[in-house]
Amino acid sequence: MATYYSIALYLQVLSFLIMTFGIIKVSTELHKEFNITQLLEIVQAEFDFTIANEGVKGNFSELHDWSSSIAINCTKGEAFRVYENLTTPDNAMKLASHIEIPDGQGDVSGQYIYTASEKQMDIQSANIILDAIYESVDKEVPYFRTEEEFSPNAPRYAPLQIILDSLAIRSTQVVDTYLSSSACTTNNETFHKFADRSIFYNSLSAGLSSTVLNHASKSFGVDMKINVLINIMSAIAIQIHMVKSIASLANLDTNDDAVRALIYLCIASDGVKNSMTETTKEFAKALMQNLISNIHDSTLAAINKRVAMKLFTRVAENKGIINLASAIPFVGELVTLISDSLTTYSIGKIAKYVFCPFEDDNQDTIKLSSPPYPGNIEL
Ligand SMILES: *[C@@H]1O[C@H](CO)[C@@H](O)[C@H](O)[C@H]1NC(C)=O
Ligand SMILES: *[C@@H]1O[C@H](CO)[C@@H](O)[C@H](O)[C@H]1NC(C)=O
Ligand SMILES: *[C@@H]1O[C@H](CO)[C@@H](O)[C@H](O)[C@H]1NC(C)=O
Ligand SMILES: *[C@@H]1O[C@H](CO)[C@@H](O)[C@H](O)[C@H]1NC(C)=O
Ligand SMILES: *[C@@H]1O[C@H](CO)[C@@H](O)[C@H](O)[C@H]1NC(C)=O
Repeated sequence: MATYYSIALYLQVLSFLIMTFGIIKVSTELHKEFNITQLLEIVQAEFDFTIANEGVKGNFSELHDWSSSIAINCTKGEAFRVYENLTTPDNAMKLASHIEIPDGQGDVSGQYIYTASEKQMDIQSANIILDAIYESVDKEVPYFRTEEEFSPNAPRYAPLQIILDSLAIRSTQVVDTYLSSSACTTNNETFHKFADRSIFYNSLSAGLSSTVLNHASKSFGVDMKINVLINIMSAIAIQIHMVKSIASLANLDTNDDAVRALIYLCIASDGVKNSMTETTKEFAKALMQNLISNIHDSTLAAINKRVAMKLFTRVAENKGIINLASAIPFVGELVTLISDSLTTYSIGKIAKYVFCPFEDDNQDTIKLSSPPYPGNIEL
């Protein structure tokens, strides 16, 4: 562990020196135009399933509106409202019924054999839901960059203080150790401050929302698989809210389709730094420097569909286990809360790494005395 720390520290100091002495300038000049086809190939290899060229025909407007109202309620901290008079659209019920839930021993029960057309329908539904969430999360709710922005939108939940204490301690210790090699080493303190707070409050919100949803679903007697789908949507809504906030701190336009694909990729990273994350960072750098042209909509659409489908299967793996854990009253809630918070927190750290701004030559705010940002959250 000590070795790991010193290597990480060494890397941070090194990149700090590189930035300070402008070596980064040389490397950006060598930077070739970003090749989005390569990104698509990586995404295809990572999320491997067949996607038909043609979109599936159907009327998805009900699914779109349903997804928006869930996303808005969950980002507003009103997850409990989601189950009031819940009418789930048919395509959402189909998608939910195909979610595979592990039994806690690692086996998947009720594995579903898809027909090709059902799979294409699910991919389309997942894509519609994801886009609807993307467009809704910042409509009524500000980015949580300050406590004033977060407080009115915090999901209300009783034993908050106990949970908060353990959460704050665990999340920084566990996850920062795990992710310290993907630190963001900019000297821009504004970026650090607002990104860190956005990560902290959104992580908290994600954890609290899922405990609220689990409570509410029990009292409304909601079907377990629908509950799992809504849980996934709630987590994704809050994660997109967070990553959009970080992308806009990096001065990227979140209405741009390429930026949207980038944000989806951050969320699909699952908080783990790997070759896809590295390519995603290259993509972000290219966008921030306007070093990118000729992005075809069809390429972005192909990336988005894969990511959408992946998001609705990947979280299901965690959710199944968590739902079983919540058979034990308080322990289950704590597990849910910490697990959803940690996932969101580590996705946030990846997003901060991906969107980390690099310094301008002519910026005079570099303070040689200040070490690379320690990454601790001060509230
Ligand atoms: C981009 O990458 C693809 C696949 O790796 C390759 O076939 C293509 O030639 C590359 N395009 C450019 C402009 O380098
Ligand atoms: C889709 O269905 C909604 C009602 O659910 C309806 O208002 C809308 O007109 C339909 N759109 C199309 C293109 O059929
Ligand atoms: C929140 O959920 C309720 C109940 O489903 C719904 O009536 C309302 O429109 C939702 N709020 C928003 C802003 O969509
Ligand atoms: C839900 O339905 C009940 C009656 O079925 C109605 O009284 C209530 O206002 C509805 N709530 C919402 C939020 O639409
Ligand atoms: C520092 O970050 C803030 C917010 O992310 C941004 O608005 C500002 O332009 C950045 N400053 C510099 C010098 O890059």
